[in-house]
Amino acid sequence: MDKSSGLIFLFISVGYLCHMANSALMEKLANKKICADEDCSYVISMAQALEDYIALDCRFINLRRGQMIYVYSKLKPQEGAGVFWCGSVYGDRYVDQMGVIGYFPSNYVNETHVFQKKTAEMATTDMDFFCA
Ligand SMILES: *[C@@H]1O[C@H](CO)[C@@H](O)[C@H](O)[C@H]1NC(C)=O
Repeated sequence: MDKSSGLIFLFISVGYLCHMANSALMEKLANKKICADEDCSYVISMAQALEDYIALDCRFINLRRGQMIYVYSKLKPQEGAGVFWCGSVYGDRYVDQMGVIGYFPSNYVNETHVFQKKTAEMATTDMDFFCA
């Protein structure tokens, strides 16, 4: 495997682990989500954190202002709730970030690059909110 196909494989694996790496069933944040494919394994877009965000619980990830984030899925907002996206922070030590995937409020980020214009809407499952 050359370097670029290795990286693509990593994206796919990380995306797949998005909701499976941890171990407690949490309340669903939404009933519908938008992904690039039915496994939500492709990166939809890159976004940059506009402000620091502190994770509320294990479903979420911390963001630091200026950090770049890979976006894997976007929850469809429920009435009266915020808009949350699922992603991981891009880092130089990328492998260390594996498993550090979770939700953050979309209004804390600026979407800078959209990779997947075609997206599909589907139901969320309990596994989407399963964590430690
Ligand atoms: C969002 O990103 C775009 C493209 O990189 C940039 O031009 C714009 O200034 C950014 N907006 C904010 C609020 O940082």
